[in-house]
Amino acid sequence: TEAQHQQHFDDKIAADTSIEAKDWMPDAYRQNLIRQIGQHAHSEVIGMLPEANWLTRAPTLRRKAVLLAKVQDEAGHGLYLYSAAETLGCSRQDIYQKMLAGQMKYSSIFNYPTLNWADIGVIGWLVDGAAIVNQVALCRASYGPYARAMVKICKEESFHQRQGYEAVMAMAQGSAEQRAMLQDAINRFWWPVLMMFGPSDADSPHSAQSMAWKIKRHSNDELRQKFIDNTVPQLEALRMSAPDPDLAWDEATGHYRCGEIDWNELYDVIKGRGQCNHERLQAKHRAWDEGSWVRDGAMAHAAKRAANAA
Ligand code: ACO
Repeated sequence: TEAQHQQHFDDKIAADTSIEAKDWMPDAYRQNLIRQIGQHAHSEVIGMLPEANWLTRAPTLRRKAVLLAKVQDEAGHGLYLYSAAETLGCSRQDIYQKMLAGQMKYSSIFNYPTLNWADIGVIGWLVDGAAIVNQVALCRASYGPYARAMVKICKEESFHQRQGYEAVMAMAQGSAEQRAMLQDAINRFWWPVLMMFGPSDADSPHSAQSMAWKIKRHSNDELRQKFIDNTVPQLEALRMSAPDPDLAWDEATGHYRCGEIDWNELYDVIKGRGQCNHERLQAKHRAWDEGSWVRDGAMAHAAKRAANAA
């Protein structure tokens, strides 16, 4: 019966036994996962755009090869995540079209422009650094296919984070002009990166249920704090600063304190009014339209093979 199914599901969650694709699960759990994993997949795919902007202008061949590999990894992450979402019964086509139609979200951070080369280092260091803090927690999410995809993604993300830090280290040790360029990139990305973790706990509608289901293991604010605590010593090692006069070590709590986030900015970007929302979606619409011959070719090839086999 439904009640027995529910009890069995609750017991598994309580015992930290992962829920697998063929297991019974409450419909709300399934829908919530499709929402979160789908948004996560879209973020990986849209996230390729700001970095791709610098592929043709990387300062050396080495930097270009590394950046190409990294952007390609992000495409791979999107594919693992779409596959994980499909185990829940949605179709990739359907959720991708919802993203194109603006009915599904992707991370706010990818609606900011990449204006100089330092932005690429800062994205690796700070954006991927923030993504890892969030995603390491998701490696223990209760849904097995999502948690397992996260393990591989985190390994690659930590490589991305290190390549970003290596790139910013080179600039931090460079000329006054290079250091100024780096500081400018940090100034523009710092607050948007803190917003990646989502609204504050008090304003996060999904958190309580997602934590009860053990999809989320830590709250948005806890993960944001962990990221700040990890990152401030790295800023100091670079002899750079954050654009936050209130950022300070708090002896009593053993954490860094920071200033108030401008939540209106996050909500504006989420609602489609960020600097690059329009440009990002337009680029993906163009890619979808211009890629139709590839899809048609693949379908024709599959039909020919099926006919030959018959
Ligand atoms: N950008 C865009 N939308 C956001 C963001 C953000 N930074 N933060 C929260 N939101 C959205 C939520 O998706 C939710 O929208 P919805 O109800 O329409 O689906 C709404 O704001 C309310 O937020 P929460 O209740 O806090 O939502 P949730 O419990 O899903 O927590 C979080 C948000 C932390 C982002 C969670 O979904 C998550 O961990 N996702 C997986 C990680 C991820 O997507 N990372 C992508 C960036 S990293 C990368 O791609 C390199």
